[in-house]
Amino acid sequence: MAGSHLFHKWGGGIDPDFPRIDRAEEEFLVTADGDRIVDAAAGAAVVNLGHSVSGIADVVADQVESVSYLSLSRFTNDAPETLAAMLAERTPGALNAAFFVNSGSEGVETAFKLARAYHRESGNPDKHVVIGRWQSYHGATLGALSASGNTTRRAAYAPMLREWPHVSPAYPYRWRFDGTPEEQAVAAAGELETTIRQAGPETVAAFVAEPVSGASIPAARPHPAYYREVRRICDEYDVLLIADEVMCGFGRTGPLFAVERYDVVPDVMVLGKGLTGGYSPLSAVMVAERIAERFDGSADEPFAHGHTFGGNPLSAAIGVHVVDRYTDSVLETGRERGRQLADALEPLRDHPMVGDFRHAGAMIGLEFVADRETKRPFDPALSVGERVYEEALDRGVYTYPGSGSVDGIAGDHLMLAPPLTIGEESVETVATAVREAIDAVAADLGDHVASGG
Ligand SMILES: Cc1ncc(COP(=O)(O)O)c(C=O)c1O
Repeated sequence: MAGSHLFHKWGGGIDPDFPRIDRAEEEFLVTADGDRIVDAAAGAAVVNLGHSVSGIADVVADQVESVSYLSLSRFTNDAPETLAAMLAERTPGALNAAFFVNSGSEGVETAFKLARAYHRESGNPDKHVVIGRWQSYHGATLGALSASGNTTRRAAYAPMLREWPHVSPAYPYRWRFDGTPEEQAVAAAGELETTIRQAGPETVAAFVAEPVSGASIPAARPHPAYYREVRRICDEYDVLLIADEVMCGFGRTGPLFAVERYDVVPDVMVLGKGLTGGYSPLSAVMVAERIAERFDGSADEPFAHGHTFGGNPLSAAIGVHVVDRYTDSVLETGRERGRQLADALEPLRDHPMVGDFRHAGAMIGLEFVADRETKRPFDPALSVGERVYEEALDRGVYTYPGSGSVDGIAGDHLMLAPPLTIGEESVETVATAVREAIDAVAADLGDHVASGG
């Protein structure tokens, strides 16, 4: 092999020319050469409390000294018990049982299998279909990818995926519905009802959605009427509502959980990423009490599912320590820094290349268009999102680019999702780098960008 034996994820592959990071502190990634890169994506909306959370080393040492691993299929332990109780208290409604796994994808798979198992246990054995939305991402494993509507991430594996239906994304900028924002939201949610009826309500187990969209259409979110209507439809057809908060949870969009923006409580909520703030792989599936209670000792069949490392005490202890740090004041800091960043980026609202400027808490989505008037996206071959990413990185700022927001193929965007604790000076660095990066790409694109729009 060439210089490295490491097979990187996604586009990285073998031996890419990636910066080598030796250290990370606060909102900075420090390269082997000593360069400091501002982590304006918090990894991938993971490192929500920054890279220097105090006390972690002691928590790890203490837990390793007592017990690092045991199987939750036969034993229990203070760390996962405490974390489950903390999450039950902090999540809305009666989401009072926590099933622990190791990644967001595993969490989503768990939610799907649980929906199936619950309906089966409830005398509805035909309910197994999961409806998702286009322009969504729920994970890399085959079940999670089947429900995902991220065309580029699905493409290579399409023959291996379940043919589950997808409805339109909750994406007001590109909705084609008429009326007020509320009327449009109700119309968009109505697609779910049509789809359930077409699939046959007796077959539909669950609907999964990111309450505020992440990687596929960053920071897109509907009028609250959308989720009120979705909740009504799910109730009417006995379809479980699964909120995927893997990316939008833990303060990312303002409140602790993004569903708190709407007046609804899902039946199942999947958490990940910010749950440990990047200090250990851990994901939690929060389950409504009425569903979890189906699987007490009297169930006809147990919930036959689990992963070896799910809920291991070491990760759980880290989770307890991190979750405790999402205080009201940290959430307020995240909202303030998000506002400061949005204000500093404000001039981009009039930029000929920026079609939509979305902001929710400490998450900002910039959607790039070739023509603001018609909302025409760039030719995907121009790789506009990637170019903005490269230009920003050259200026010392790490961001999260994406494509496919319009139809799965076309549509470039950039997500900014810094640690909630990012310093005010770094916010200005990020804003300046992103504005300059967009200007540089626009200049490079020349006539590809319509002027005046
Ligand atoms: C909303 C959402 N759900 C699920 C996942 C999958 O999580 P993981 O990569 O930890 O498997 C992601 C990952 O980015 C995500 O953004």
